[in-house]
Order: sequence, then structure tokens, then C-alpha cells
Amino acid sequence: MSYETLLTETRGPVALVTLNRPKALNALNSTVMSELADALAAFGKEEGIGAIVLTGSEKAFAAGADIKEMQGIDFVDAYIGDFISGWEAVAATRKPMIAAVSGFALGGGCELAMMCDFIIASETAKFGQPEITLGVIPGMGGSQRLTRAVGKAKAMDLVLTGRMMDVAEAERVGLVARIVPPERLIDEAVETAAKIASFPRAAVLMAKEAVNRSFETTLGEGLRFERRLFHSLFATADQKEGMAAFMEKRKPQFSNR
Ligand code: HXC
Repeated sequence: MSYETLLTETRGPVALVTLNRPKALNALNSTVMSELADALAAFGKEEGIGAIVLTGSEKAFAAGADIKEMQGIDFVDAYIGDFISGWEAVAATRKPMIAAVSGFALGGGCELAMMCDFIIASETAKFGQPEITLGVIPGMGGSQRLTRAVGKAKAMDLVLTGRMMDVAEAERVGLVARIVPPERLIDEAVETAAKIASFPRAAVLMAKEAVNRSFETTLGEGLRFERRLFHSLFATADQKEGMAAFMEKRKPQFSNR
């Protein structure tokens, strides 16, 4: 796969997708949006890939939606063209996705990281929703995903003031899963993704689906959904293998069946 704004590679069962517009701090324009959707769809179909890492550069994961591109848009263009709806492809990715964030993750960059399943961040990472300083508000899920991730007080603080939060604060409030030194970022994310990819595929996809369902439904419905998925995994060969291997004190040989 060859792209104008992305680099893609595979490392064993992990796809590594790197945003690559260094001169614009990885600002997210419509080319990035369509190329990323394309790359994720391709890796989604590739059987050997079990998890995906999305990253940027050391200076910026992404400094937001491309302001140059947005500047000239009027309401009718935005509304009729359903501006930025193509980013939904990222959140709709079924395979687990880790955001490996170094440097700025601002505006759409923070929102893109939050579309991933969790964030591993380097000590240099900075998060924020500065849209208010441009006369707009978050448009790729920031007002919703950030609030669910960190609660109303912090979300309001960030969205209404546009301030940046450093990585220690981001971890403390629950936006970031792990902090690592910058030089460890990609390896940590890829190793973590490889570990996820080593588990039975059906269980991994269902685990992701079940956690995500908790954001969409009541506790009762969510618990019923979880239990049905849990029951269904007893129909898989990998459940038999996983439990037999435990009892026999050996390593399981999963077949993704
Ligand atoms: C377009 C951008 C950009 C952006 C940076 N650049 N952010 N271009 N869109 N979001 C470009 C700059 O214009 C500059 O280009 C180059 O990248 C380097 O940026 P500098 O500002 O010179 O770097 P620095 O002084 O280190 O400051 C870094 C920064 C700052 C603090 C991250 O660039 C910044 O504030 N960027 C904007 C952040 C922002 O407001 N993001 C939210 C966007 S709105 P030249 O050509 O001059 O070298 C958004 C809405 C999402 O994301 C919702 C739905 C779409």
C-alpha cells in the first residue's frame, strides 16, 4: 500500500500506520481521512493482522483538523457534504487499535486518538481540544468521547478553555492507559498490539465490542449483551484449547476457530 499522507508497514501480526504530513504537524485533511479509511479497511480484511497501531511523529500525533482546508468551508458545504463524517471509519474498525501518541494531539488529533481503543502516550504527549480558540467546537467526537473518558468537569475545562493537558494529567484523568519514554513508544505499542493479536480473534473482537457497548446502552442491556457473547465463545475451538492448555499446564495453540 502506498499513500501520500500515511506510511504503513506490518510487524508480524501488527499493522503500523503512521500519519505522515510532518510539515503540517500531521494536520488531518481530507486526503488523510480517505487514505486512513482505506488502509484500515485493507488491514481489516488481512487475515494475518490481529491488531493495529496508529501513530504520528515525535513532535505531533496530529495538531488537529487541517485549518487551511477548513477555512474556506461554509455551512451549506459542510452540511450537504457531511464534512468529516468519513472519520467514522476509524471508530468502526473492528480489530483492536492502539493510538501511540507523542507530542501534540490536539483537536481532531485528540479525537482521532480517542477513536482508537486505548492510548499509549510518550512523556512528551500533550492533549487538548482548542477548537474554541478558532470559533468552532470539537467535531470528530471530542465533546462526547472526551466526556465519557474523563468526566464532565475535565471535559468542560478542556473544551471551554482550549488549554492543553500534559501526559501526567491525561493519565491521571483516565484518557491515557500508559506512559512510556519517547524512545519506547512504538515498541511498547507494537508489543502490546502483538500480545492482543496472539489471543483468539473471536474473543478479542467480542471483548472490544462488549466494552464499546457499555458506552451505548443501559447496564442491564449491556450485561445481557456481554453474557450472550460470553456464552457464544463456548462454541469456539479456542475456548476448548485455552482451558485444556491451562489444565494441562502448557501453552495454548490457538487456531482462531
Ligand atoms: C493546518 C497546521 C495545523 C493545523 C499546525 N499546522 N497545526 N496546519 N492545520 N491544525 C502547521 C502550521 O501552520 C505550520 O505551517 C506548521 O504546521 C508548524 O506549526 P507551528 O505552529 O509553526 O509549530 P509550533 O510553533 O511548534 O506550534 C505547534 C502547535 C500549533 C501549538 C500545535 O501549530 C497550533 O496551535 N496548531 C493548531 C492547533 C489547533 O488549533 N488544532 C485544532 C484544529 S481544529 P507553516 O507552513 O507555517 O510552517 C480541529 C477541529 C476538529 O481539529 C473537528 C472536526 C474537523
